[in-house]
Amino acid sequence: MASSTPYTVRWGILATGWIAETFTKDLLTNPATRDVHDIRHEVVAVSSSSSQQRAVDFINNVKAPSTTKAYGSYYELVADQDVDIIYVATPHSHHFQNAMLALEAGKNVLCEKSLTVTAAQTRKLIETARAKNLFFMEAVWTRYFPLSIKVRELITSGAIGNVYRTIADLSIGRDAPEGKIDFPDSNRMVNTELAGGALLDLGIYALTWVFQSLYHTQPEDEKEAPNVIAAINTYQVTGADETTSIILQFPKHKSHGIALTSLRVSSDPDEQGTAGAAIRIQGSSGEIQVLGPAYRPTGYKLITRDSAGKAELVEFTIPKDPERDWGHGMFWEADEAARCVRDGQKESKTLPWSESIVIMEVMDEALRQGGVTYPEVISTDVFDPQSPLNTGKR
Ligand SMILES: NC(=O)c1ccc[n+]([C@@H]2O[C@H](COP(=O)([O-])OP(=O)(O)OC[C@H]3O[C@@H](n4cnc5c(N)ncnc54)[C@H](OP(=O)(O)O)[C@@H]3O)[C@@H](O)[C@H]2O)c1
Repeated sequence: MASSTPYTVRWGILATGWIAETFTKDLLTNPATRDVHDIRHEVVAVSSSSSQQRAVDFINNVKAPSTTKAYGSYYELVADQDVDIIYVATPHSHHFQNAMLALEAGKNVLCEKSLTVTAAQTRKLIETARAKNLFFMEAVWTRYFPLSIKVRELITSGAIGNVYRTIADLSIGRDAPEGKIDFPDSNRMVNTELAGGALLDLGIYALTWVFQSLYHTQPEDEKEAPNVIAAINTYQVTGADETTSIILQFPKHKSHGIALTSLRVSSDPDEQGTAGAAIRIQGSSGEIQVLGPAYRPTGYKLITRDSAGKAELVEFTIPKDPERDWGHGMFWEADEAARCVRDGQKESKTLPWSESIVIMEVMDEALRQGGVTYPEVISTDVFDPQSPLNTGKR
């Protein structure tokens, strides 16, 4: 008989920015509100590289328990014996050094997307997790949505026949007068010192849908790394990629993925969905359209030859914890991480290490073709515990 006591996983939060707050609030929701009863999450510590006060403010802000520890450095967090797993929520420039810091300290890691700046960094992190027998996962939350699971099931059950093409777009229109983009030049979206640019921040979600539909859903022994052709426009002010279009060719399967991202145009200009599906998964007998933003989809339509104009929108809502009045959808990936830690699994089957590597290789290659480069301090694959990315020196 299954134990009725849920397994508790104890989280440490590394960084106190926007996504750290969103994720931590999800951790603090009651799992029963999403019908999860086998695990629970505890937020035991939060660390800020700026100041301890910032960690204190964060804890108060998200209404974490008063026992939650507040640290003024990442070093203290990774040394905390009460922490089972660390959530890395710094800009992607910092992921490699910060995740290495945690792994080297013997901690399991859930690391925000994009996983790293280069594929070599991803490979190094995975080697380290493997050598130290630790759990490590890229936090692509969208993959754990019930909607994504359903779409993958539709594909593998043959609902649209052979999938030959996926077109996926995640673009946010931030065009501004005089050739500018509407972010301060120092903002992590456009600042190459923080690995800014459309591809690593947004394009990863377009690639997520290409990979879910054309790669992940293939039998294990048939998976193939794609050929990559990319076109990139760079932002004249900072050199970050502002519009990136990638064609991925999977030769054995005769399929193409088209991953699009831009800071100039929008995949949803009125933010009402009027522009239609930004994700179209096309097979020999029909297509699946995924509605809503690529990162937080809200519904899908299955259109087949027999649909006769009557394909219905199947909507998915994200459950809210009524007591906290909160629910963003990041808890499903947290549940996956918790179950993996509980079960001694080192990687998630929904986003295995090998797939994270291939995706990073695609982004590497696209950036190479587009001539985008990042500073050495953020692109090196040599771990340095004293790196300014770990000390918080700005
Ligand atoms: N899954 C999603 O839906 C989603 C959404 C948005 C972002 N993200 C990812 O999450 C990561 C963080 O994004 P965010 O929007 O939360 O960024 P943010 O609001 O700017 O927060 C980043 C945090 O990182 C820490 N940090 C350390 N060194 C820094 C530096 N030199 N400059 C800026 N921050 C520094 C800061 O916390 P301390 O000062 O406390 O150390 C800061 O608050 C990115 O990799 C992004 O791609 C994911």
